[in-house]
Amino acid sequence: MHDLEGRSAVVSGASAGIGRAVALELARRGARVVVNARRVDRLETLQREIESEIGPGRCAVAAGDCAEQGVIDAMLDTAADSFGKPADLVVVNAGRGLAGSLMTSDTAQWEDMVRTNLLGAARLMRTAAGRMLDAVTPETWRDHPHDIVMLGSTVGRHISPFSSMYGSTKFAVHSLAEALRREVGPKGIRVSLIEPAIVASEFQAVAGYSDELVAGFDERFGPVLEPADVARTIAFIAAQPASVHVCDAVIRPTRQDYP
Ligand SMILES: NC(=O)c1ccc[n+]([C@@H]2O[C@H](COP(=O)([O-])OP(=O)(O)OC[C@H]3O[C@@H](n4cnc5c(N)ncnc54)[C@H](OP(=O)(O)O)[C@@H]3O)[C@@H](O)[C@H]2O)c1
Repeated sequence: MHDLEGRSAVVSGASAGIGRAVALELARRGARVVVNARRVDRLETLQREIESEIGPGRCAVAAGDCAEQGVIDAMLDTAADSFGKPADLVVVNAGRGLAGSLMTSDTAQWEDMVRTNLLGAARLMRTAAGRMLDAVTPETWRDHPHDIVMLGSTVGRHISPFSSMYGSTKFAVHSLAEALRREVGPKGIRVSLIEPAIVASEFQAVAGYSDELVAGFDERFGPVLEPADVARTIAFIAAQPASVHVCDAVIRPTRQDYP
């Protein structure tokens, strides 16, 4: 299936988990993809994988901390320079969790999480939207889709006391995604929010979840989602005609009742 042929994509947080799976899925469906994260060795491995499976020139690397404006500019410049056209599909995915509630989470990690999940995401959304606004016109927007896809979470919609500091960053980006959709949607740019529940990735270890907690998820809700399940949903949204917008997708393991 090559329903994303001709698209110029950027995926933040592509060295692991959901972002890696999204980059692979987009590339397999025809998009050219810029991958970002801090671990450059992982990105270069992914680039080799994509290029050996799909072909040369299909993947470019723009490594660095996605909360820095210079790195964000470099991601978008890399798409334009490497693929000959500005990014028209930007997946704002990089993020991290944090175990515990307002009362029990590690306060030393609050700033890093807010910086990555909220400020970094907001800067990438703003910069991507600004460049897309320069590219679309009232005459041309229907010819070619432009997408900004934001990774939210079910805990950005439903309050989860056990991970309330992390959840607060996702509530924040949910509001930004919907606000940006209202701002730029009328000009032809789609801003979509993806709200996964539990996905097996490095997220749980980075967040500091205990082995017992993770085993409990599997027991109660399993099988939990795989990154590829989220990636297929994002590709489906991006592949719609420019005049059709699937703007909000909640994805849960079938047995997960809440959140
Ligand atoms: N897993 C879940 O259950 C779940 C559920 C709902 C939503 N989400 C959301 O989905 C997104 C992806 O999570 P995941 O499950 O794929 O987690 P993951 O496996 O831990 O991957 C996170 C990715 O983000 C990158 N990253 C983190 N901080 C970064 C920074 N400052 N600059 C650049 N890249 C950074 C990491 O790469 P480097 O370390 O190499 O930089 C990694 O590639 C996150 O926004 C998360 O909140 C996850």
